[in-house]
Amino acid sequence: MEKIIYRNRKNTDCYKWDAVSTKYDKGVTIPAWVADMDFATAKCVRDAIAESAKFGVYGYYFPGDNYYSNFIKWEKERFNHTVKREWIRFSTGVVAAINWIIQSMTNEGDSIIIQTPVYHQFAESVNSNKRKLICNELVNNNGTYTIDFDDFEKKIKDNNVKLFILCSPHNPVGRVWKKDELARMLSICSENNVIVLSDEIHHDFVFGDNVHIPSMNVSNYENIIMLTSSTKTFNLAALENSIIIIRNKKLRDIYDSKTSDIHESSGNIMGYIAAEAAFGNGQEWLEQVKTIIYNNYNYLKKTLKKKYPNISISPLEGTYLAWADFGCYLKAKELHNFFENKCGIVFNYGESFGNNCSTFVRINLATSFKNIKEICSRITDNL
Ligand SMILES: Cc1ncc(COP(=O)(O)O)c(C=O)c1O
Repeated sequence: MEKIIYRNRKNTDCYKWDAVSTKYDKGVTIPAWVADMDFATAKCVRDAIAESAKFGVYGYYFPGDNYYSNFIKWEKERFNHTVKREWIRFSTGVVAAINWIIQSMTNEGDSIIIQTPVYHQFAESVNSNKRKLICNELVNNNGTYTIDFDDFEKKIKDNNVKLFILCSPHNPVGRVWKKDELARMLSICSENNVIVLSDEIHHDFVFGDNVHIPSMNVSNYENIIMLTSSTKTFNLAALENSIIIIRNKKLRDIYDSKTSDIHESSGNIMGYIAAEAAFGNGQEWLEQVKTIIYNNYNYLKKTLKKKYPNISISPLEGTYLAWADFGCYLKAKELHNFFENKCGIVFNYGESFGNNCSTFVRINLATSFKNIKEICSRITDNL
C-alpha cells in the first residue's frame, strides 16, 4: 500500500506555512488555514512529473487523449457522471474559471446569487466584476446547515438573478447536498432562467454514507456549468490546471467566444501530466488521505467537545475543512489574538465567509495527526 508522506513545508515559500506571522513565542506556529494539504501528492503523479521534467522541453502543449479518457473514467466510476469530451474546457484555476464564466454569461450590474457562508472568492469574483451580489443565507441548525428555499426563490425573482454559484460539497459548512436539495435548487433556477455554476472542486472528499451527486446528474436542466479539478483532490494547486464542463452547446459557444478574446490558457504542461496520472492511478492514495482526514476530524471534535461541550463543530459530510463556532467561549474580537498569538495557530476566520459567523473558524484537517493533536492541546491549554 502506498505510504502517505507528510512534509514539513516550513521555509518552502508556501502560503500556508510561510505567509503567516504571529506573536507566538513558544514554538512553531501551526497553520491550518489555506486549503491545501501537507502531504506529498501520489507517487504516480510525482513519477509522471519527474519523467516530463527530465525530458526538458517545456514549450506549448495541450492535454492529450489520456488526460480526457482518465478524467471521463474518473467521473463515470466515482460519480456515475457521463461527461463527453467535447464538453470539456480548461482553466488555470477554478477561481479563474468563475471569473471567466461571470464575464461571459452575465453583464455588468446583473445579479448573481451565492449561499453564505461560502468560500470568499465567490463574493469577491462577483464584486470585482461589478455584478450585484445577492446572498441566500444558509440556515444553521446546531451546526448542520440547510437551505432556505423560499428566500432563495424570492431573492432570485426580486433581483432578476442571472447566475447562481453553487458550492457542492460546501466550503466551509461541510455539507454534501442531498438529491432532493439539489433538485429543488435546480428547479427554481430552471423556472427563473438562472444559469447554475456548480463548483464541485471538493467532490472527492465525501465521508461516511454521504454521496456526492454531480449537479448535472440531478436534472435535465441544460444551463448548468460544472467546475472541478484534480488540484484540490491531489494537492496540485500550484500546477494550475482545472476543468470546466459545459454540456449546453449554446453556453459553450458563448464561453468559447469569450475565452478566445482573452487568449485563454489551459494551464501548464506539468498540470496536465499530473492530472492525467492522478485521475488514472491516484485512487489508492486518495482513499488513504481521506482516512487520515476523517481521523483528524474525529479526534478534533472529540477532544474539543469533551472539554468545551458548547463549541459547535459542524458534521464533516464533505471537504477537508472543519467549521467550528467558538462563540460560547470567545468574543469575535478576541479570536485573532487568542488563536494566533496565544496558541500559535492560524485558521481562516468566519468573517471572510459571510455575515453572522464572526465567532467561527475554518480548520484545515489535511495535515498530520501530530499537528492536529498539537492544535487541540494548544487550544485546551489556553482557553
Ligand atoms: C469551493 C472552492 N472553489 C475554488 C477553490 C480554489 O480553486 P483554484 O485554486 O483552482 O482557483 C477553492 C479553494 O479552496 C474552493 O474551496
